Amino acid sequence: MRVGVTKETEPGERRVAVVPETVKKLAAQKLAVSVERGAGLAAGFRDEEYTAAGATVVERSEVLATDLVLCVKRPTPDVVASMKRGAALVTLLYPLGSPEVVRAAVEQRLLVIALDMIPRTTLAQAMDVLSSQANLAGYWAVVAAAARLPKIFPLLMTAAGTITPARVLVIGAGVAGLQAIGTAKRLGAVVEATDVRPETREQVESVGGKFLVVEGVAVTQGAGGYAAEQSDDYKKKQAEMVSQAIARADVVITTALVPGRKAPRLVNDAQVASMRPGSVIVDLAAEQGGNVEGSESGRDVTRHGVLLIGPANTPSNVAHHASIAFSRNIEKLLAHLTKDGAWTIDLAEEITAGCVITQDGAVVHAKVREAMKG
Ligand code: NAI
Repeated sequence: MRVGVTKETEPGERRVAVVPETVKKLAAQKLAVSVERGAGLAAGFRDEEYTAAGATVVERSEVLATDLVLCVKRPTPDVVASMKRGAALVTLLYPLGSPEVVRAAVEQRLLVIALDMIPRTTLAQAMDVLSSQANLAGYWAVVAAAARLPKIFPLLMTAAGTITPARVLVIGAGVAGLQAIGTAKRLGAVVEATDVRPETREQVESVGGKFLVVEGVAVTQGAGGYAAEQSDDYKKKQAEMVSQAIARADVVITTALVPGRKAPRLVNDAQVASMRPGSVIVDLAAEQGGNVEGSESGRDVTRHGVLLIGPANTPSNVAHHASIAFSRNIEKLLAHLTKDGAWTIDLAEEITAGCVITQDGAVVHAKVREAMKG
């Protein structure tokens, strides 16, 4: 089977779906790779490196004519319509928000695999693009905050006396949050963290953070390990506890998402104003509506003397390593879904059932099919 790797077209997207290192591994799986000219450049990979790894560097039309097109961001319906009939597409699709792409794929009888729909299970961890990218986003958030904070992170004993460490608060201890906690800790900060899922306490502590607990209120459990919408009482108590932690923090990093909904608002304007001027907030949920009042996706804004960083497409800021991780995830996924260069799609298997959206001219994913009816 011939695999095509596109050059990403979305403005600001620097990642590439497959890096040279993976080309060889795919060849061992009987998957020959064609890469669009310049596809890896923005992530730091030259065409010659792809060629040396055994790939063919070609023009875009040839990539779209391959049996399996690999992209980071979902292509437009036009691009999907120009793919080879009956071919396959693997990408971050977010199918519930892109019915027109799904329709174009059905029309072209494509096998479409949505990387964002891979189940968040231990078995699927090596293929989990959302986790690999969130992990790097968590790292970036800390480094971005550290670079802009007019304080240093670690405790420093100097001839001029002792400098006390910076205080970092991480709200939302999922994959990105845990990496942020660990990174801030390694830089020497004192790190506090909170999450609606009480089971994250142990994980927070294992990477060196202090877990802040909302006491005396029942927590609503979500499905599949994800966070659920919480009661008003819980939200009030959490807000009070978090208010105090925000006021004493130099850096706040928010990562809280609720799948399929707008990001919960966790930091209001008064809480921003309670921070010392020069403090920094990184809102990793800015693209999904923001956890922080006043943050803007893709822009830095200052309110009450506090810098609000609202990154858009954070993993692209560390495109080199984000691409390596993404590419390794894809390699593992293809090892799971193909054998000797041919598809082995079994919709009765959990990972396959979770991420295969269309096949043979039909929407085979029940949830997506349901959403498209409505
Ligand atoms: P996410 O990006 O959906 O959310 C980030 C964090 O924010 C979560 O920990 C969530 O509980 C928290 N959050 C949501 N609302 C909040 C609020 N109001 N206040 C404070 N915190 C709030 O999470 P992510 O990182 O994508 O992980 C989602 C789930 O998948 C988690 O349960 C995670 O443990 C699980 N997972 C499991 C893996 C596995 O291999 N078993 C791999 C990756 C994720």
